[in-house]
Amino acid sequence: MSTYLITGIAGFIGSTLARAVLAQGDAVRGIDNLSTGKLENIAEISGRIDMRQSDLLDLNAVHQACRGVDYVLHEAAIPSVPRSVDDPLESNRANIDATVNLLVAARDAKVKRVVYAASSSAYGDVPTLPKHEGMPANPISPYAVAKLAGEYYMTSFWRCYGLETVSLRYFNIFGPRQDPGSPYSGVLARFITQMLKGEQPVIFGDGLQSRDFTYVDNVVNANLLACKAPASEVAGRIFNVATGARIDLNETFRVLKKLIGYAGEVSYQADRAGDVKHSLADLSLAGKHLGYKPTVGFEAGLRRTIEWYRQRT
Ligand code: UD1
Repeated sequence: MSTYLITGIAGFIGSTLARAVLAQGDAVRGIDNLSTGKLENIAEISGRIDMRQSDLLDLNAVHQACRGVDYVLHEAAIPSVPRSVDDPLESNRANIDATVNLLVAARDAKVKRVVYAASSSAYGDVPTLPKHEGMPANPISPYAVAKLAGEYYMTSFWRCYGLETVSLRYFNIFGPRQDPGSPYSGVLARFITQMLKGEQPVIFGDGLQSRDFTYVDNVVNANLLACKAPASEVAGRIFNVATGARIDLNETFRVLKKLIGYAGEVSYQADRAGDVKHSLADLSLAGKHLGYKPTVGFEAGLRRTIEWYRQRT
């Protein structure tokens, strides 16, 4: 039995990973400062996990949390482009300083491997599609810069200290338990919950921006594969994790309208600062070295997500 430390365990992705790790028979420890995570996300598994309510900026607490751990899945973050534009210092602290603390503690505790939630935002507005890991990064928002800095730190800890790290560049993850309640929430969580309540969603810009939306179960698979892949193939490296298909926001609205049975229309407002126009992943590298391929497509993921929110609306 291995022990996994999941940072951001009370968040959408962290809490989903926790269930998957428990399901494979391993032990889960979690750390979360509840800044964006919610205890209700882990309520049903709370008796089976060792949950520490601490901040990653508290190095002492992170050292304690890493003791005896085999794998770290680092999901804790303040994950929003516009929020980072509003408060770049907060983004820097939560996304970079916290990550360096975690790496120091993981190194000192001789953890086997750290898998990091990196972001597709690192590519920024590189015009070439699909985006592959060999392209130079071109981050636009403070969030993208912070997430990219985290990747560089991961690789640096592999190169300088031999701590095995894998960075997974997530492409717009969605699914059950994603928080829909903030203006900074992901677009699918917002649109689905708004449409279920009969409220009108808003598209920022012309709606022609496109995303490679990725259902959360695919991210779970990628993390579990990243823990077990041979170090010679993955240590210190960066991999895209996505569906490998893109859809624009106008079409996304039409698909949701049909699946939800929403009768209204969408409205349009000005572009959002820091926004990327198009996003689509090349998954060759992840396929080759991690054995990753998406198992739940966009529409199948949407159906599951809509059903989950429907039961709670
Ligand atoms: C970015 C990253 C993503 C990362 C996420 C974390 C890119 C391409 N993607 O997502 O990998 O996980 O940050 O937060 O950089 N929108 C609306 N109406 C709304 C809300 C959003 O039109 O009510 C639009 C946004 O302007 C944007 C798109 O929907 O064009 C997606 O926005 P969002 O879900 O916030 O994610 P990204 O910023 O693309």
